Amino acid sequence: MTNSSSNAMWGGRFAAGPDAIMEAINASIGFDKRMARQDIDGSRAHASMLAAQGIITDTDAETIREGLLTVLSEIETGTFEYSAALEDIHMNVEARLKEIVGEPAGRLHTARSRNDQVATDFKLWVRDQLDAAEGAILSLIEGLLGQAEAGADWVMPGFTHLQTAQPVTWGHHMMAYVEMLGRDLSRVRDARARMNESPLGAAALAGTSFPIDRDATAQALGFDRPSANSLDAVSDRDFALEFLSTASICAVHLSRLAEELVIWSSAQFRFVTLSDRFSTGSSIMPQKKNPDAAELIRAKIGRIFGANTALMIVLKGLPLAYSKDMQEDKEQVFDAADNWMLALAAMDGMVRDMSANRDSLAAAAGSGFSTATDLADWCVRALNMPFRDAHHVTGSLVAMAEKENCDLPDLTLAQMQSVHGEITQDVFSVLTVDASVASRTSFGGTAPDQVRHQIARWREVLA
Ligand code: ARG
Repeated sequence: MTNSSSNAMWGGRFAAGPDAIMEAINASIGFDKRMARQDIDGSRAHASMLAAQGIITDTDAETIREGLLTVLSEIETGTFEYSAALEDIHMNVEARLKEIVGEPAGRLHTARSRNDQVATDFKLWVRDQLDAAEGAILSLIEGLLGQAEAGADWVMPGFTHLQTAQPVTWGHHMMAYVEMLGRDLSRVRDARARMNESPLGAAALAGTSFPIDRDATAQALGFDRPSANSLDAVSDRDFALEFLSTASICAVHLSRLAEELVIWSSAQFRFVTLSDRFSTGSSIMPQKKNPDAAELIRAKIGRIFGANTALMIVLKGLPLAYSKDMQEDKEQVFDAADNWMLALAAMDGMVRDMSANRDSLAAAAGSGFSTATDLADWCVRALNMPFRDAHHVTGSLVAMAEKENCDLPDLTLAQMQSVHGEITQDVFSVLTVDASVASRTSFGGTAPDQVRHQIARWREVLA
């Protein structure tokens, strides 16, 4: 099946239009219409620059700029008719501009190619998403700080291997995620700063013979400077890769927190109660309240990192400069961006809504011989024992408590002395969970004062 009319934009040398399958594999309008606003911003900046440089007339530039606003309003109000025959957003916009303003529309593409145009549009789109991600991460950090502040000194078990290790505070655990998201935030800002060079004016690959002003278009579009090599400008998609890898690492963090919420909200743990607003029920088991949002957030890393992998593989081995393979960049980034934003928003809502169950946390904090290290440390300090020996003595006491089916503080002094004669009554002062966390005063430790110090520091950073 062939389409008899050749493409109005590039069909000069073509006698026949493309096969329907050719059109289906070639057209990107189905997804790149999401860059309409960026495309129109870029074209308006380009038209102004062409006029300022005397390459087109002021009248034509003004006609083009006004016409593009009309196109934008048609797109925004949903009256714009997209055409797959026109392949992509760039040619759809230009073709409609021609219908609206006539001949001057044909002058817009002077000193420009779709190659620098698409690189510019896509960069602007990704930059907007980085800005949105920055706001969403900041909001989630705020939510976590609120949780940390409320429970800065609430004790809970700290785990390694998901086995009780040492007591920590709820605030400390929340602040661990604040640190992760803080790094995500700095990755977002780094990526934005690094990507902020304008490809516009690189034209097809070699630059242009027209006396364009690339600084002017860069400035008009909020870029820091024009990119310095035209071949690189049209073939660079590092900004998309950095966006996806930044999103991936952040999604790993969200997934780990989501996993903890799934465990913590179970009947066996009861560390947190998730709000009804962020839970679902079961169609058969009436008692169920399921943490679906957390589970879905936990899963999002799959598609986000999948997008990162896919684009890496698309780009590897592409010769310079533009190849149509690069059109495969957008759907990956769009999907990853949508799901990253959704995961951030859902986690934000869940974190702000959930309540930590102070009593369950405290009850669990003391179980599993969680203050055994405190006992060993006491032996080192009070009895001047080498740590390895203290570890051995404590191990014997743990075995004894396990046999007696009690916790370490429930052993009598006589029982303790049967393992090591020099142990005194003073040892009991370090065996409570509160004493344990209060003693962890080293910088970055779980002592409530340290946790409050870190909360205050983050409040200052965010202010
Ligand atoms: N739709 C294309 C893309 O997304 C635009 C660039 C087309 N350039 C070309 N030389 N065919 O990559």
